[in-house]
Amino acid sequence: MEGVRTAGEGIHVLSFTSAAMSRSIRAGQFLNLRVEEACEPLLRRPFSAYRIEKSSIEIVFNVVGRGTAALRRKKQGDVLDVLGPLGKPFKTIDPGFDTGVLIGGGLGVAPLPLLTSALKQEGKPVVTFLGARSAAQLVTDHLENLHTATDDGSRGFRGNVVDLVSDFLSKHPVEHPKIFACGPMPMLRAVASFARASEITCEVSLEGPMGCGIGICQGCPVELAGPEKSYALMCKDGPAFDIRTIKI
Ligand SMILES: Cc1cc2nc3c(=O)[nH]c(=O)nc-3n(C[C@H](O)[C@H](O)[C@H](O)COP(=O)(O)OP(=O)(O)OC[C@H]3O[C@@H](n4cnc5c(N)ncnc54)[C@H](O)[C@@H]3O)c2cc1C
Ligand code: FES
Repeated sequence: MEGVRTAGEGIHVLSFTSAAMSRSIRAGQFLNLRVEEACEPLLRRPFSAYRIEKSSIEIVFNVVGRGTAALRRKKQGDVLDVLGPLGKPFKTIDPGFDTGVLIGGGLGVAPLPLLTSALKQEGKPVVTFLGARSAAQLVTDHLENLHTATDDGSRGFRGNVVDLVSDFLSKHPVEHPKIFACGPMPMLRAVASFARASEITCEVSLEGPMGCGIGICQGCPVELAGPEKSYALMCKDGPAFDIRTIKI
């Protein structure tokens, strides 16, 4: 491990090296980290791949419980047990859109830097919208053409990021956009209903609870759209889903 640094109020970036993993990770995939060597907590914890620089890989996180508290205590030189990359990447290779509209809420920013690089490689311009409670919780590195929203108005638009996107696109229409969004579920629902109303293709990256992370435990069901009740698995079929395919 290379260490853990601070990237904002209560926000940490953990870096480790793995040449093989750094070559195979695609934007939107996640890593499943064993947080302690002891068997407690037993389950690994999933985190989006945030940044890759040569063989160095980063995740960004905040402390919400035992697992993330253990990660914050990691030190340079510690050995980290990481499984991945897991899940399916965002669908960036798609002739159906010209501009990527990236929307992140809080630490939903995590997959956006790799997504920005992937879209640029495809020659697609990117416009990015990031929302957080306040300026101190915005992690704005490695993003392009960035517009911010904060609940308290301490930076950028005062209000939620979906209102910012709606306001921006009504004044600056974008040719053949596709929305890629990651953040808390209420934000993703609002993004999905905005995308439907505006007839914009949209993928949302879900971050619900997981067990195994590899499609075995059936612990991460996502209800599929359609008349029959059926489910996909967030860890194996996602975490990113086209909103036309799921109930959101
Ligand atoms: C595909 C995927 C990618 C993720 N990427 C990131 C990331 O890049 N950065 C980041 O900070 N977090 C990310 N998460 C969430 C992260 O995995 C959890 O915050 C972490 O597992 C919490 O572990 P803990 O032991 O600290 O908390 P726990 O003790 O397990 O839980 C503490 C509290 O957080 C709630 N919680 C735990 N996991 C989740 C979850 N997935 N969604 C909502 N609430 C939860 C619990 O219900 C509980 O109330 C991601 C989750 C998924 C599924
Ligand atoms: S987390 Fe076990 S099947 Fe998805």
